[in-house]
Amino acid sequence: MKFGFIGAGNMGGALARALKGKGELYISDFIPEKAASLAKELGGTACDNREAAQKADYLFLGVKPYMAKEVLGGIKDELANRAAPPVLVSMLAGTAISALEQILGFEMPIIRIMPNIPASSGNGMIMYAANEKATSEQVRSFVAAMDKSGQLLPMQEKLIDAGSAVSGCGPAFVALFIEALADGGVACGLTRADALKLAEATVCGTAAHMLSCGIQPGPMKDAVCSPGGTTIQGVRALEEMGFRAAAMNAVIKAYEKTVK
Ligand SMILES: NC(=O)c1ccc[n+]([C@@H]2O[C@H](COP(=O)([O-])OP(=O)(O)OC[C@H]3O[C@@H](n4cnc5c(N)ncnc54)[C@H](OP(=O)(O)O)[C@@H]3O)[C@@H](O)[C@H]2O)c1
Repeated sequence: MKFGFIGAGNMGGALARALKGKGELYISDFIPEKAASLAKELGGTACDNREAAQKADYLFLGVKPYMAKEVLGGIKDELANRAAPPVLVSMLAGTAISALEQILGFEMPIIRIMPNIPASSGNGMIMYAANEKATSEQVRSFVAAMDKSGQLLPMQEKLIDAGSAVSGCGPAFVALFIEALADGGVACGLTRADALKLAEATVCGTAAHMLSCGIQPGPMKDAVCSPGGTTIQGVRALEEMGFRAAAMNAVIKAYEKTVK
């Protein structure tokens, strides 16, 4: 299997790393040195956008959404001239499959994905939706190829923007929470290193525990809050400061920005 990447930035790079060892990697970037460095790291081949479009079975589009017109415009002849068109895998936030088809001027197999940065270390969440040109075999092979990136979740395309505000933007929100927990620990006398380790392990461990035991957030909280105890006082402080509303608004604001 041949995987092409146009755009070797944060997200393109993360997914290329997850595909290391799964096939041949062809990597292109606006800055050729960036493509060369990632290709060297992953044992792939640095190339330009056209070569990636000519060679890939799965062509990942990892540029910023506003670049889609220029980048697809530059490779559409290569795509149209392929005997068997590759699958275009778009990670562009807020960009519908129909918008890509409109730019191309023809239909081809397209899988729209919404990954997140933890995919680069195998802890990611990737939502995906495919158009009708993508065969179920192509989608199955794509899902199998991405297995080192973390979890994959099929999603109706119209809900991907909403999901993106949770899992695509979420790592930033969660990082903020981890940092704040650690800051609290430092304020109580812990070293920064210890506080951060405790905060990271607590967030990671709580999510893992909930997933493995199938516990919902409410019962999880209740299990930690003993009557008249310390934790419920912390919960009260969070509620007083509008913690839940702040987290909900973060997701809603991110969603609104994506769809506007
Ligand atoms: N970051 C995330 O957490 C995240 C999550 C989900 C989806 N996404 C999506 O992933 C895409 C990339 O985001 P990102 O955060 O990875 O951005 P990024 O780090 O800026 O990466 C974009 C890359 O594309 C390159 N590029 C620009 N024009 C190009 C061209 N004409 N040909 C080839 N490469 C070109 C850029 O090159 P230079 O900068 O080197 O010039 C850069 O390396 C976006 O569409 C975004 O919506 C990102």
